[in-house]
Amino acid sequence: MGVEFVDLFNQWADSYDDTVSGSDPEYKEVFEGYDAMLQELADLSISPVLEFGVGTANLTQKIVAQHKVVIGIEPSEEMRRIAKVKCPEAAVYAGDFIHFPMLQMPVRSIVSSFAFHHLNDQEKRLALKTYYDKLEPNGELIFIDTLFKDENYKLQMIKEAEDKGFMNLAQDLREEYYPYLEDLEHMFLQLGFKVTFKPLNKYAWLIQAGKGE
Ligand SMILES: C[S@@+](CC[C@H](N)C(=O)[O-])C[C@H]1O[C@@H](n2cnc3c(N)ncnc32)[C@H](O)[C@@H]1O
Repeated sequence: MGVEFVDLFNQWADSYDDTVSGSDPEYKEVFEGYDAMLQELADLSISPVLEFGVGTANLTQKIVAQHKVVIGIEPSEEMRRIAKVKCPEAAVYAGDFIHFPMLQMPVRSIVSSFAFHHLNDQEKRLALKTYYDKLEPNGELIFIDTLFKDENYKLQMIKEAEDKGFMNLAQDLREEYYPYLEDLEHMFLQLGFKVTFKPLNKYAWLIQAGKGE
């Protein structure tokens, strides 16, 4: 459940850092300002931190550099291999947004970057419910991910990609589970979270959700 994209990430692992640095023109705008975005998220996080979809540990490294404790969860074996080399200070476990080792420790921040869209709506709801129960009362979920403010904007982005000949990007935007802002907001509120959204580039948003207690 929720791990249908893992083969793709096993294949992408070795060149992933080149893509996020802007070497692939198709994905340049998706990852525009990547380092600054991850730094903003890292600065907001409070130790101990639980991170999902660690990838090549770019966010993990920034959090660890602030002397915070990070427990990482990553389903792709190849990504985990690279993460462990790049960030040996963090414990990175096999698992995913829904199935992960239940750690007997308090969690102040649950973080993730560019990964939550791999879950469909049902899976997103299930994951968020688990996080609500896992977070400390004053804890916070802080995600960065691609989402669309509405359907018109999504169609506009797909058309723009096609017009530029970016067929892989256009296909991704159609097929992955990028949510609409209003639907995601509704999901958080229904589960009892207070949530805010801030645009970071044409695709990525910062999502901050507290328990509202
Ligand atoms: C686009 S990469 C983002 C990596 C890193 N967080 C970053 O900001 O560069 C997406 C990551 O999510 C992982 N992933 C895919 N499906 C997942 C799932 N169901 N649960 C957790 N992580 C998942 C992939 O293996 C990959 O490492």
